[in-house]
Amino acid sequence: MSYLEISGGRTLCGEISVQGSKNAVLPILAACLLGEGVCVIENCPQIGDVEDTLEILRALGCSVCTCGHTVQIHASGAGIYEIKRAEAVRIRSSVLFLGALLGKMKKAVIPLPGGCAIGKRPVDQHLCALEALGARFCIDETITASTQGLHGARITLAMPSVGATENAVLAAMMADGETVIQNAAKEPEIDELCAFLQRRGGCIAREADGTIRIQGGRPLGPAVYRMQADRIVSGTYLLAGAATGGYVKIQNDAGQTLASLFSVLRQMGVHCGTSGGAAFVQGGPVSALSYVETAPYPGFPTDLQSPLMAALCRTQGTSCICETIFENRFRTVEELLKMGARITVEGRCAQIRGVPALRGSVVSAPDLRGGAALVIAALQAKGRTVITDTGYIERGYEDISRDLSCLGADIRRI
Ligand code: EPZ
Repeated sequence: MSYLEISGGRTLCGEISVQGSKNAVLPILAACLLGEGVCVIENCPQIGDVEDTLEILRALGCSVCTCGHTVQIHASGAGIYEIKRAEAVRIRSSVLFLGALLGKMKKAVIPLPGGCAIGKRPVDQHLCALEALGARFCIDETITASTQGLHGARITLAMPSVGATENAVLAAMMADGETVIQNAAKEPEIDELCAFLQRRGGCIAREADGTIRIQGGRPLGPAVYRMQADRIVSGTYLLAGAATGGYVKIQNDAGQTLASLFSVLRQMGVHCGTSGGAAFVQGGPVSALSYVETAPYPGFPTDLQSPLMAALCRTQGTSCICETIFENRFRTVEELLKMGARITVEGRCAQIRGVPALRGSVVSAPDLRGGAALVIAALQAKGRTVITDTGYIERGYEDISRDLSCLGADIRRI
């Protein structure tokens, strides 16, 4: 079992490029099942969730070749519509194959995606959207889906679910007729999925109010697509820079999707923004944040909630963060308390009372973004911190120790 060892107290300073987007590439890999021809995905992050998703594509009969950050997928040989538990158990995004398999095979059998560390994560919105397109389901330990033929529909999601929007898009691409998805999630990762499908010849567009309109049944051909930077990884490293009072610039992220983070950082007294087409923070003492709540895009992203909490641990005064998206996303608090943080949780909100210093400790990553938060806390702490269960972190961060070492951190993966 690997772990991270960090000696805190250094001020981060430097410029790096970040990996391609995890939450954009996962639905795009599922979309490679559709249509004909070879899809080449460039700047694909080398992370656990991608490796697991590529294994699923191979198990479905696709030919998958990887060379560094480039993945080549040919789905012509794909003739299997069942995903076994062993292949899917580690990742939740296997649920995204529902729409793609229904679109390609008119049938899908996937393990019932269980809850996870951050919440129950039901899939009712996914099923409602796919039923509107003509799918029928039988649910026990697995979800068995089938259709006589997908047809266009007008879908209104009860909530702007990212995954349900993506599943509806993938199925609607292969449905006869027009599909309109109202109250669709506005996350940038969905716009990347749309761009990829357009590149393949699909007819899909997002309207001014966020509605997605699809003319289904068009042939999808081969495409080469380069993933954009991962906005959550960028945000994590910018928060690490702010927390250590340093200077961090993300060379390949112009910050267009980071407006809500910039707004929060400015309220914390941090100089930040974009300079020369790159997002940056310029350190200084960090002030407490009276209130922020997570929200669907373009609100403050739930995936940066834990990293923000870690950056607020040493401010003067008390900060308040409310988590409105997932019901169990404060698990990293218990670990931060071991490092001397003063945090109390009441319902959906956490109060962070700033302390003069954090202390190094042995802590365990509770989930992906909670693990990244512990890294940010360790960078600030006096002394040595050991973070175990770093497998969670490696699901979403290609090499957090490499990246932060480039910014001057004393961090190593053991
Ligand atoms: C995606 O998860 C991301 N994962 C998450 O990132 C991200 O936190 C989340 O969107 C919100 O932005 C991927 O893209 C692989 P949702 P997803 O459906 O699609 C409820 C990370 O750290 N809901 O928008 O599962 C759900 O329980 C991960 O990179 C229903 O009730 O998120 C949650 O409370 C974590 N019924 C809320 O909606 C449904 O059918 C948002 O979920 C679907 C969702």
